[in-house]
Amino acid sequence: MNKTIIVTGGAGFIGANFVLAWVKQSLGKVVNLDKLTYAGNLENLVDIQHNPDHIFVHGDIGDQTLLAELLIEHQPCAVVNFAAESHVDRSIHGPEDFIQTNVVGTFNLLEAVRAYWGGLTLENRQKFRFLHVSTDEVYGSLSKDEAAFTETHAYAPNSPYSASKAASDHLVRAYHHTYGLPTLTTNCSNNYGPHHFPEKLIPLIIHNALAGKSLPIYGNGQQIRDWLYVEDHCAAIRRVLEAGKVGEVYNVGGWNEKPNIDVVKTLCRMLDLKKPRSDGQSYINQITYVEDRPGHDQRYAIDATKLANELGWKPEETFETGIEKTVNWYLANQEWVKNVTSGEYRNWVQTHYIERGEELA
Ligand code: NAD
Ligand code: DAU
Repeated sequence: MNKTIIVTGGAGFIGANFVLAWVKQSLGKVVNLDKLTYAGNLENLVDIQHNPDHIFVHGDIGDQTLLAELLIEHQPCAVVNFAAESHVDRSIHGPEDFIQTNVVGTFNLLEAVRAYWGGLTLENRQKFRFLHVSTDEVYGSLSKDEAAFTETHAYAPNSPYSASKAASDHLVRAYHHTYGLPTLTTNCSNNYGPHHFPEKLIPLIIHNALAGKSLPIYGNGQQIRDWLYVEDHCAAIRRVLEAGKVGEVYNVGGWNEKPNIDVVKTLCRMLDLKKPRSDGQSYINQITYVEDRPGHDQRYAIDATKLANELGWKPEETFETGIEKTVNWYLANQEWVKNVTSGEYRNWVQTHYIERGEELA
């Protein structure tokens, strides 16, 4: 079967890292379908813009006609679905786009893929994979002493974002169970690394620190996230695609639980060394506690034992090595940051943080 894959959302943070690695490792042709929302950025893909193994298509996963054309034209052996609205705070301000892309969009994608897959030869139907990239947030929030999420943890999404991702996961599951579509689902913890849009905690803190702005901590800063370097997540997806058992779910995580305030202080100390403030003071002085996120999940933690035991995946980076690479990338790519923080980004910062009593714009 043709080695071409279709990736959706490959101009966003994780999708772009995935596409870059796939093409650089010469794993085959990638058709990259992306709507280029505020979070999608072709600048993420400049390194492969002239590479014939990368075909960018500007379009929506909700467009079944376009999807059918792409599937017929390129005859992929897999579809990897990253496309989504991904920011929890934006889902609180305006959930509709999340339902449209994450639920209705995934449904349309599944329908187009089902039609294409149904027309393949038996041999190619067996080889085909639909991999859905999802999140640990579908499992809800853990208390301090609860065991980390396994794949059998009950779904309990708490934000419009996580509810929309949970709905998409259920659709994927149903398309396998009902139609036999060869699906795989991955539920990953918080990613960080290059090309991360600075609305999310880690890149926002680096950006604000360097710009001399305040560093907003929601509530008491004791909420816990389980951090994974983005390239490790991409390697896990490649491994699941290659060897995952059809119909199965795999949790992906870095065994790196950290309270938000610790992450922010680590970033401040690293910047103090790499890019000291001109007044000699620490970036820690820029930390400001602001109004909490409504319905803020207290703790996420992923148990990635199944992926380790069954498929032999484990992360390459520790939090310490990954965060250093990340800070170095942002220091070396200030032009990228400047470009993505113009325009729409400013409106978001105004709307979201001014409500929290901040002056960040
Ligand atoms: P992102 O917001 O950075 O990128 C999303 C991409 O999808 C953008 O390029 C955007 O233009 C595109 N897109 C949005 N709507 C689309 C549509 N209707 N049709 C086609 N393209 C569309 O998101 P991300 O952080 O890279 O996350 C990618 C996926 O991984 C998402 O499904 C997310 O739920 C999941 N995930 C993210 C994390 C994380 O920490 N960022 C962790 C676990 C899982
Ligand atoms: O767990 C996986 C999820 O991780 C993904 O599914 C989401 O797409 C991704 O955005 C991320 O969600 P979070 O809500 O955990 O990420 P975020 O970077 O928005 O926030 C991380 C933590 O930091 C969270 O507890 C909220 C807090 N926070 C965030 C921002 C933006 C702050 O304290 N201040 C901030 O300004």
